[in-house]
Amino acid sequence: MTKVLMVCLGNICRSPLAEGILKSKVFSHKTCVDSAGTGAYHIGEKPDRRSIAVATSNGIDISNQKARKFSIKDFDEFDFIYVMDQSNFDNVIMLARNSDDEMKVKMILNEVFPTENLDVPDPYYGGEFGFKNVYNMLDEACDIIVKKLNPNG
Ligand code: 4NP
Repeated sequence: MTKVLMVCLGNICRSPLAEGILKSKVFSHKTCVDSAGTGAYHIGEKPDRRSIAVATSNGIDISNQKARKFSIKDFDEFDFIYVMDQSNFDNVIMLARNSDDEMKVKMILNEVFPTENLDVPDPYYGGEFGFKNVYNMLDEACDIIVKKLNPNG
């Protein structure tokens, strides 16, 4: 069983979408997918309604997810830890105990644009990039992640 953790700040906008999208592309008996936030603001909450809406419009139900905070134990639990942006990366790397922990942490858009360290923009406060854009970026990244996890299809 391969275990993948998606991480953002609040665990209500980006990482719940990443979790739902990747889950929709893998076999659940082969790959476990979860998500967490580096911040504690939204613990126990459902995903943001705008994330739920864009997922629903793509046939994915993320409404049962509950936000939780990233914990050091997640380094033991998961094989791959995908962060959405540079600040998530810094916050998670700060908690790493050794190089094994550090090696698990990757910027998710580096799957699409290797070594460019591009952020999935935080859509929470609106702005240039909306939830649809975030969805499309994560969908593209998850397609590549699935191929890596499952090279024989
Ligand atoms: P997320 O978005 O990290 O994609 O879940 C955010 C949600 C809430 C906050 C920040 C980012 N917040 O500051 O409350």
